[in-house]
Amino acid sequence: IPNQVKTITCIGAGYVGGPTMAVIAKNCPHIRVNVVDINPERIAAWNDTDLEKLPIYEPGLKEVVAEARGRNLFFSTDVDQGIRDGQMIFISVNTPTKTYGTGKGMAADLKYVELCARQIAKVAQEDKIVVEKSTLPVRTAESIKRILQAEDTEHNFAILSNPEFLAEGTAIDDLQHADRMLIGGEEDENGQRAIEALVNVYANWIPRERLITTRVWSSELSKLTANAVLAQRVSSINAISALCERTGADVDEVAHAIGMDSRIGPKFLKASVGFGGSCFQKDILNLVYLCRHFNLPEVADYWEQVVKLNDYQKHRFAKNIVDSLFNTVSGKKITFLGWAFKKDTNDTRESAAIYVAKELLDDHAEIHVYDPKVTKEQIFKDLEYLLTQKGDCHSEGSEAMRNLLQRVTVHTSPYPAMDEAHAIAVLTEWDEFKTYDWKEIYNNMHKPAFIFDGRNILNAKELAEIGFSYKGIGKG
Ligand code: NAD
Ligand code: UGA
Repeated sequence: IPNQVKTITCIGAGYVGGPTMAVIAKNCPHIRVNVVDINPERIAAWNDTDLEKLPIYEPGLKEVVAEARGRNLFFSTDVDQGIRDGQMIFISVNTPTKTYGTGKGMAADLKYVELCARQIAKVAQEDKIVVEKSTLPVRTAESIKRILQAEDTEHNFAILSNPEFLAEGTAIDDLQHADRMLIGGEEDENGQRAIEALVNVYANWIPRERLITTRVWSSELSKLTANAVLAQRVSSINAISALCERTGADVDEVAHAIGMDSRIGPKFLKASVGFGGSCFQKDILNLVYLCRHFNLPEVADYWEQVVKLNDYQKHRFAKNIVDSLFNTVSGKKITFLGWAFKKDTNDTRESAAIYVAKELLDDHAEIHVYDPKVTKEQIFKDLEYLLTQKGDCHSEGSEAMRNLLQRVTVHTSPYPAMDEAHAIAVLTEWDEFKTYDWKEIYNNMHKPAFIFDGRNILNAKELAEIGFSYKGIGKG
C-alpha cells in the first residue's frame, strides 16, 4: 500500500464527488484526479465547455473546474478504466434510505456501494486504497473489505473512512477551509500507510492540526452523529418556535439570547419551515435503525423524535396557511417563493417545499412556484415522486397525478408568479426575495394579502405597514 499517491479516482460525480474532487485537483496539481460515473448525462454536463451547464450549482465551483479540468481533473463514464488508473479510489455514490425489504424507510441502501466494491475487486491490477466518502453505517468498511478480499485474493486493499462534512451552497468554501478533515483507518501497517497517503493529499491545503485520524468505526459513526446533532439543533429551535407562536415570544430573539452562551453558540439556530436536504433525515433514520439493530430502543426513540418534530413543523406551516385563509385554500392561488431545500443550491431533495405543496394540493390549492435555480422539470419530478410514494397516485402518468399536477404552475420570473395571488409562502431563504418591490406585489394581490415567511427573512414591520398580513415562524 503506497503512502503517497499520484492518481486518484472517484466513483460518483454527484454533489459530493464533483466538488470534492475539483477542490483536490485544484490544490494538488501533481495528482491526476479522475471522476467516473455511470450516468452519461451527468458526465457530459461536467465536461460541458459552457460552465453554466455544470450539473450542480455551487458558488465558486465553476472557477475551480475551469482551473483544473483538462489539466489534472477528468470526468468520464469509463468506470473500469478509472478503477485501473487510481491508486486511491473514493467511493462517493448515493446511499439513499431503503425503499424495500428489511429496513425499508429507515436503513441506508448500500447496493450502490457494494456494486462499487465488487467492480473494484474485478478490475484492480494492483494494491488499492479504497476511501469511503459516502455516508455509511458503522462497520460498512468491514463489509467492503470482506467483499474485496473474497473477490480478489491477489492484491492488498486498505479501507479508509473519510466522511464529507460540506454543506450545499457553501461546498467550495467548506472544502477549501474545512473545520476538520476526518480520516479513519485500520490499525495495522497497511492501514497506517493508507492514512498517511490521504493525509498527504489534504495537507496540500488543510493545516495538519485539522486533519484528525481515528479508527474506522469512530470515523463512520462521527459522520452520522454530526448530522444528527446539527438536525437536532434545528428541531430544537423549531420546537420552541411553536411555543413562541402560542405565547407571544419571538423565536429569533430567543435564538439570539441563547446563542450568546458560548457553550451553545449562535450557529444553526435559525427557525424554519423544517430542515430538508438529502442527508439529515436519511442519516438520522439510519442511526435510529442502527440503534434498534443493536437493541437500544430508548436511544433510537430519542433520535427519531428529531425527524418527527421536523415533519410536525412542515405540517404546522401548511396548516397555518389553510387556517389563516379562512379554512379553505380551494381554488386559491398560493405562490411559493423558493423550492430548493436551502439557498444557493439547485438541490431539492427532501425540501420542505415539496411536503407543504402536497398538503396544500390535497386541500385543492393552486400552487405557483418561483425559484431562481430550480427547473420546472425538477419541481414536477419532486411532486410526482412524493405523490407516488405516499400512495396518492399509482403511477407517474396516471389521471389522478395529472389532475393534481395541473394545479401547479412554475414561473421563471417572480412578479408574474405573485400576480393575483391570495398568499405568498417563502420556502427558501434566497437573498433576492428581500429585494423585491413589495408595495407593487401587494397592489397586484387579492386582499387580505397574506405572507407566510417560512424563513423569517422578510422585513415584517415594513410588510405590515404596506398592508400585508405577515406571519413568520415563531413570531407570537
Ligand atoms: P448524488 O446522488 O448526487 O451522486 C451520486 C452519484 O453516484 C450519481 O451521479 C450516480 O450516478 C453515481 N453512481 C451510483 N452508483 C454508481 C456506480 N456503481 N458506479 C458509478 N457511479 C455510480 O449523491 P451525493 O449527494 O453526492 O451523495 C453521495 C454520498 O455522500 C451519500 O452517501 C451522501 O450521504 C454523502 N454526503 C452528501 C452530502 C451532500 O451535501 N449532498 C454531504 C456529505 C455527505
Ligand atoms: C448538512 C450538514 O450541514 C453538512 O455538514 C453535511 O455534510 C451534509 O448535511 C450532508 O451530510 O449531506 P446540507 O444538508 O447541505 O448540509 O445543508 P445545511 O446547511 O446543513 O442545511 C440543512 C437543512 O437545515 C436546510 O433545509 C436548512 O435550511 C435547514 N436549517 C439549517 C435550518 O432550518 N436552520 C438552521 O439554523 C440551519
